[in-house]
Amino acid sequence: MKIAIIGTGYVGLVSGTCFSEFGHEVVCLDKDEKKIEALRGGKIPIYEPGLEQMVKENVEDKRLSFTTDIKTAMEGAQAVFIAVGTPTSRRGDGYADLSYVYAVAKEIAPHIQNYTVVVDKSTVPVGTADEVRRIIKEENPQADFDVASNPEFLREGAAIADFMRPDRVVIGVQDEKAKEILRKIYKPLYLIETPIVFTDTRTAELIKYASNAFLAVKISYINDMANLCEATGADVVTLAKAMGLDNRIGKKFLHAGPGYGGSCFPKDTLALNKTAQEHGLSLRIVEAAVEINSAQKAKMVKKIRQALGGSEAGKTIAVLGLAFKPETDDMRDAAALAILPALVEKGARVIAHDPQAMEAAKPMLPEIEFATGPYEAVTDADAVVLMTEWNEYRALDLDRLGELMKQKIFIDLRNVYEPETVREKGFAYVGVGRGKVVSSK
Ligand code: NAD
Ligand code: UGA
Repeated sequence: MKIAIIGTGYVGLVSGTCFSEFGHEVVCLDKDEKKIEALRGGKIPIYEPGLEQMVKENVEDKRLSFTTDIKTAMEGAQAVFIAVGTPTSRRGDGYADLSYVYAVAKEIAPHIQNYTVVVDKSTVPVGTADEVRRIIKEENPQADFDVASNPEFLREGAAIADFMRPDRVVIGVQDEKAKEILRKIYKPLYLIETPIVFTDTRTAELIKYASNAFLAVKISYINDMANLCEATGADVVTLAKAMGLDNRIGKKFLHAGPGYGGSCFPKDTLALNKTAQEHGLSLRIVEAAVEINSAQKAKMVKKIRQALGGSEAGKTIAVLGLAFKPETDDMRDAAALAILPALVEKGARVIAHDPQAMEAAKPMLPEIEFATGPYEAVTDADAVVLMTEWNEYRALDLDRLGELMKQKIFIDLRNVYEPETVREKGFAYVGVGRGKVVSSK
C-alpha cells in the first residue's frame, strides 16, 4: 500500500520509516527543502538511535523516498498522514497552533483522486478531525475521502522501539473503508498482538492529551514528594521505588528531577487545559502539574545557588547534559534552557557538555561555554551539575573529577548517583529529594 506522510520531523520520519519497514511504500514530504535534500543524501536531520540505518535500508529497498512535491507524495496514496507540528500558539495563551495542520488539509485537498484516508497523527485538540474534514470538503467538494485520528505515543530516544512494539495503537475513525485501510497498515502489529483501540475521532484525539497529561501529573507528583522529602529528611528515590512496587501505581515516570521538558508535555498540558476551559471546565490536577513543573525549574536554580554557599556570582559551574532527556539532540523546552540563563544572569560562568545536543543548544544558550567532554567541562569548576542522565555520565571517574575541580560540589538533578558513593569521595552531594540539602559551607 502506498502511504504519504506530510511533515518529516520526529514523528513523520519515524512513522514513515517504520511503515516502510512494515513493507508499505512510503513517501515522506516536507516543505523544508534542506531537510529533504539531506534525507535524500542519506543524512538524518535528528539524532534518534537506530533511525539512520533503518532509513538507509528502506531507501535502498525502494520502499521509502523523500519529496517536497505534494503531487508526487499523493499520487496513488491510499492513506495520507498529517504529522506536522502543533506548537503552543504564538499568542502565548497555551492553545495549540493548528495553522500547520489546516494548511496541510488545504494543500492535499486538490490532489485527492481515489478514495483516501487522511489521518491526523499530529497531537491535535478534540474536534480537529472534523475541521480537517470540513476544509478538505470546502477545497475539493468532489474528493472521496475520510478523516481518521491516529495519535502517536512514541518517545524520543526510544522512538523506533515504541513505534514497532507499542503498548497500544489508537485509531479514531467513522468509516468502515477507512478502518479497513488502517487495519491493513498496522497489520504487522496485529501479528504481535498489539492492542488496537478503535474509537471515534474525538475520543482518539482526547486519549492522546489525557495520556500525556497523566504522565506529566505523575512527574509533578513525584517532584512535589521530592520537595517534601527535602523538608523532612526522607529519600524520594526509595519512596518512588516502594510506591512503584504497587502495580496499581507502577514504577515508571516516578523519577524526581528538574521538571519535565521536551516538545510535548509542556505544550500538551497547556492545550488540554485550554480545551477544558473552552468547555467551562477546569482540570485542576493538570493545572497544578503545570504550576509545579515551572516552580521545580526555579527551585533547581535555588538548589544550585545554595550548594554554592548562597551565591553563584563569580563561580564556574560545569553542566553535564543539555537535551531535555538522554538519547536525543532535542532542546525544545529542556530544563537547561530555564536554569542556565538564570545562573549566568547572577554572575556564574557556565561550561556545558552534551553528547548530542550541543549544536542545537549553541544558538539557544549563547551565554554559556561548551566543552568537548565531561572532564574538560569540570576542569577548575566550583560545582558540577548533572542535568541530563546520559549513560556516559552514569559512571564518571569521581576521583578524576575531584582532582580536576576547584571545589568538590556535585549537584545531581537526576538522582543518578547514590549520595553516599559521591560523599565518600569527598564531595558535597545534592540530589533532588534526597534528604536535607547539604550546603558546601
Ligand atoms: P517537528 O517539528 O519535528 O516536525 C514537523 C515537520 O513538519 C517539520 O519538518 C516541518 O518543516 C514540517 N511541516 C510543517 N508544515 C508543513 C507543510 N505544510 N507541509 C509539509 N511539511 C510541513 O514535529 P514533531 O516533533 O515530529 O511533532 C509533530 C506532531 O507529533 C506534533 O503534534 C507533536 O505533538 C506530535 N508528537 C510528537 C512526538 C515527539 O516525540 N516529537 C511524539 C508524539 C506525538
Ligand atoms: C512523551 C511521552 O512519553 C510519549 O508517549 C509521547 O508520545 C510524547 O511525549 C509526545 O507526545 O510527543 P517524550 O517527550 O519524548 O515523550 O519524552 P519522555 O520520556 O516522556 O520525557 C518527557 C520529560 O519528562 C523529559 O524532560 C524527562 O526528563 C521527564 N521525566 C520523565 C521526568 O522528569 N521523570 C520521569 O520519571 C520521566
